Amino acid sequence: MRVTVGVSGGIAAYKAAELVRELQRQALEVHVVMTEAACKFVQPLTFAALSGYKVITGLWDDSNSGPGSYDSSIEHIAEAQAAQALVVAPATADILARFAHGIADNFLTTMYLATKAPVLVAPAMNVNMWEHPATQANLQILRERGVRVIEPGVGDLACGMVGAGRMAEPAAIAEAVLTVLGPRHDLAGETVLVTAGGTREALDPVRFIGNRSSGKMGYAIAEAAQSRGAKVILISGPSALYPPSNVEVVKVTTAEQMRNAVLDRMSEATIVIKSAAVADYRPVVVSDQKLKRTGPMTIELAPTEDILAEVARRRHAGQLIIGFAAETENRVENGRAKLLRKGADAIVINDVSGDRTGIDSDLNAATFLTTSTAIEMPEMSKRKLADRILDETLILRRPKHLIVEVDSVSAQDEILQQSATPARRPIIVE
Ligand code: CTP
Repeated sequence: MRVTVGVSGGIAAYKAAELVRELQRQALEVHVVMTEAACKFVQPLTFAALSGYKVITGLWDDSNSGPGSYDSSIEHIAEAQAAQALVVAPATADILARFAHGIADNFLTTMYLATKAPVLVAPAMNVNMWEHPATQANLQILRERGVRVIEPGVGDLACGMVGAGRMAEPAAIAEAVLTVLGPRHDLAGETVLVTAGGTREALDPVRFIGNRSSGKMGYAIAEAAQSRGAKVILISGPSALYPPSNVEVVKVTTAEQMRNAVLDRMSEATIVIKSAAVADYRPVVVSDQKLKRTGPMTIELAPTEDILAEVARRRHAGQLIIGFAAETENRVENGRAKLLRKGADAIVINDVSGDRTGIDSDLNAATFLTTSTAIEMPEMSKRKLADRILDETLILRRPKHLIVEVDSVSAQDEILQQSATPARRPIIVE
């Protein structure tokens, strides 16, 4: 889904950089339109680098034309039609007045008139300007026309005063955008194969070697993918959980059965997520009869097949393969070595060292690791983390040819360096 962020000229313009990141974390395609005044606060390059798309700054700006762009005279119409939401942050008193009175004298105000998409505004201004009857009347007009006003907070203002007028936090603005966009369907057309739970390797008819995996993470991923429009195949080891509705469940017990089920169904999948805790070893001999206590006992174990590595070897073009790993130390180093060894596109490193997160908990924290990025996902519910994992997985799909890495970053870009995820480099379209 595509969202246009309009940036007007206020000191809070720098916060729009964080808003762009927040929206991208939701796997949204973000385009940025800036007013001339906004360019005095933040360089357009900052937003170009963050969004990966050229930034539109002027109605008649020739630099807006070029390969892949619309003719500038109709660009505002094209942008207005392509956007599924327009969010203006910060929205100055001036831009609110122009919107309210239909003045179309720059790209943003013209686009506002031309779009049929939902419009949100996040006002930011001095408290007296905010409280002025003219501003309040303009806001009333906009509300009556269906514009969602994301109320500013109360606090210290850039002008030195204290009061209402502080722009809402980027996370709150992003949340309002997501609410307006409605349930996500960004996985429509995808088939997601998820493995979940632990496996059991029999010793005799009543005993097995297993692990503490509950299946909660994998089931949460299956549910999240289904609710975002994917067809889901959930291959599950023994688990006490009810499977999510509208998900095909294949029940298995052993690592070998899980391997067979995964290999059998993987050709249907566009995304494979291997969150199961598969046994690394199985007993060489499985007794037909219940083993008797006869003093000390040694059990010989043989390694199981590494299903993740095998899936990565056999993958078809365009198929994304995401693994999991439980690391307690040197997480990024160990995780990256595992990623390369297994040939997956990404590995989600579970934090199993915390008291509140990991195995059998409803909470989890993780690092989403690719060969070039390490995205920290702090403690949250497994259901929320499932969405974050799917968001980052979809970002791996973005066409790489559009992306050119920027080697030198301007001082402005320090804003992004601070807000950007570690190791993720700014991107810009040639
Ligand atoms: N995996 C698999 N087949 C196995 C073992 C593991 O597909 N026989 C997958 C898991 O589903 C998971 C990832 O590989 O996606 C975990 O790799 P693994 O090497 O087992 O890592 P850890 O569980 O972290 O254990 P260790 O570091 O001891 O290897």
